[in-house]
Amino acid sequence: MTPEDFDTLVRSRRSVRGYLPTPVDPARIEAALQTALWAPSNCNVQPWTVHLVSGERLRALGRAMIEAAQTGRPHPDVPMDTPYLGIFRERQIGSAKALYGAMGIARDDREGRAAAFLRNLDAFGAPHALFVFLPEGFGTREAADLGGFVQTLMLALTAQGLGSVAQGALSLYPDIVRAHLGLGVGPQLMVGIAFGHEDPAHPANAARTDRARLSEILTRHD
Ligand SMILES: Cc1cc2nc3c(=O)[nH]c(=O)nc-3n(C[C@H](O)[C@H](O)[C@H](O)COP(=O)(O)O)c2cc1C
Repeated sequence: MTPEDFDTLVRSRRSVRGYLPTPVDPARIEAALQTALWAPSNCNVQPWTVHLVSGERLRALGRAMIEAAQTGRPHPDVPMDTPYLGIFRERQIGSAKALYGAMGIARDDREGRAAAFLRNLDAFGAPHALFVFLPEGFGTREAADLGGFVQTLMLALTAQGLGSVAQGALSLYPDIVRAHLGLGVGPQLMVGIAFGHEDPAHPANAARTDRARLSEILTRHD
């Protein structure tokens, strides 16, 4: 593999938010997960446990989370209330504009935005989703390890020709997820990853994000 091949792989991954219902060949899912095992982590502790939920089990979980969203407030294991200010807010708005623009949802269309958000909880209709947990007692340092695991996995899925999207939204109702998966209290739900075959006709998949220039994030000390 050349550096250019790797660059192409990284740049061809993008968030997919509309899927065909066709299940993915289990061998391809297994292959992507086998690759993701090789993500690095602090002291090689590999602080991730992953639950793969598919088909009707995923739809049932989605229905339960959507009902919870319509009747109460989220209670994520890790609070999701950090305000994004300044340049971070600008970038957040940029990604929202790209998504809602592609879907034809106006800025003041609160109902449209709410409906678009709820699609998150059904994993955007994907046939599969992975729920990524951090063991009890682990915190920010180990959560950084999870970021590497998630990106490695999404790149492996991209290499398999599959679409994926990381979803903090799938961690908003951890008690419901734990109950559906038969888990006790303890493992912290950090993020979900919906994946499957992309529906090329879904308008959400026309969204494209940009990135900061290198000079905006890098300080050189020669
Ligand atoms: C940890 C994490 C959580 C995310 N949560 C969500 C989410 O809940 N819903 C969603 O639609 N996109 C979510 N995203 C996708 C980001 O919006 C997306 O990665 C970003 O806008 C850049 O776009 P790209 O993935 O197409 O390059 C998440 C991404 C990451 C890395």
